[in-house]
Amino acid sequence: MRVLVTGGAGFIGGHLVRRLTSLTGCETAVIDNLHRGYSRHSLPTPVPFHKIDIRDAAAVENAMHGQDVVFHLAAQSNVMGAVADAGYAFTTNVVGTYNVLQAAARANVKRVVFTSSREAYGDPKTLPVPETAPMQPKNAYGASKVAGEVYCRLAAHQGLETVVLRLANVYGPGDRDRVIPLFATAAAANAPLTVYGTQKILDFVWIDTIVDALIKAGFDRYIRGPVNVGSGKGATIAELAHRVVSLTRSSSEVRIVEERAQEVGRFVADIRRGKKLLGLSEPADPLWALPRLLEA
Ligand SMILES: NC(=O)c1ccc[n+]([C@@H]2O[C@H](COP(=O)([O-])OP(=O)(O)OC[C@H]3O[C@@H](n4cnc5c(N)ncnc54)[C@H](O)[C@@H]3O)[C@@H](O)[C@H]2O)c1
Repeated sequence: MRVLVTGGAGFIGGHLVRRLTSLTGCETAVIDNLHRGYSRHSLPTPVPFHKIDIRDAAAVENAMHGQDVVFHLAAQSNVMGAVADAGYAFTTNVVGTYNVLQAAARANVKRVVFTSSREAYGDPKTLPVPETAPMQPKNAYGASKVAGEVYCRLAAHQGLETVVLRLANVYGPGDRDRVIPLFATAAAANAPLTVYGTQKILDFVWIDTIVDALIKAGFDRYIRGPVNVGSGKGATIAELAHRVVSLTRSSSEVRIVEERAQEVGRFVADIRRGKKLLGLSEPADPLWALPRLLEA
């Protein structure tokens, strides 16, 4: 089985590639332009690495020859980054996804797994949010993920298996520039932890759950229609900040400031479908792995 991971030098991609290399009979290769990814050196050797930009259709087509399964993770993965440079988010997340799907179909790839996001829903009316909730993105990142999903659906109609996973907020070792690593860094320096808005509640899910879900989505029975992958529990960002301060025995203060308009402030995934199709099961405490992360 030949497997291609786009965005394999990134946070989730790195964990996925490590798992794939531990599976027998799986030959894994990575493409990434290192826009946000770490470096080819952080990848588990001896995974073949190709520095390719998914906006380059010909290069993607070359990399696709002979692949059986594609995990398409390459993206502008940061909401505020996408807001700051909506052009890059569009060309990478929409045109790049289109390039990956086109090349996969031409190369007779069996299945493409696409990592969409809870941002596809925008600000939901009620929690938890089922997959049937309307897609009303409120920023350039969410819009690009919705567009990516639509192209996946189109490719599926044309015969390419596409599995869409809508990920909640993923946390684990090796991430940076997102709320948990930012809080951990601030706490280590006894600097203030900034919380945007008092009402913000999000669904945090441990990286191993995501990798398990990706592996099932890639290799088990074909799943039609999007699936939420989260913990199914909400944690307020203020609560998260206080837990980080306490676990790191920091003297940092938690500062609440005005919320940022572009960000989605409320999300808890309805994971009934994910439980059934991907075997999701998470402990009662959504932040159960925080000590493991901060003590690592
Ligand atoms: N981490 C989360 O909480 C989360 C939540 C929802 C969805 N997702 C999605 O999961 C996927 C992986 O997320 P992540 O947290 O590992 O992000 P990440 O930014 O760490 O990894 C994305 C990778 O894509 C690469 N990339 C960016 N633009 C590219 C381009 N034009 N060509 C080739 N490679 C390019 C980056 O260099 C990076 O290595 C992304 O699609 C993201 O949108 C992540």
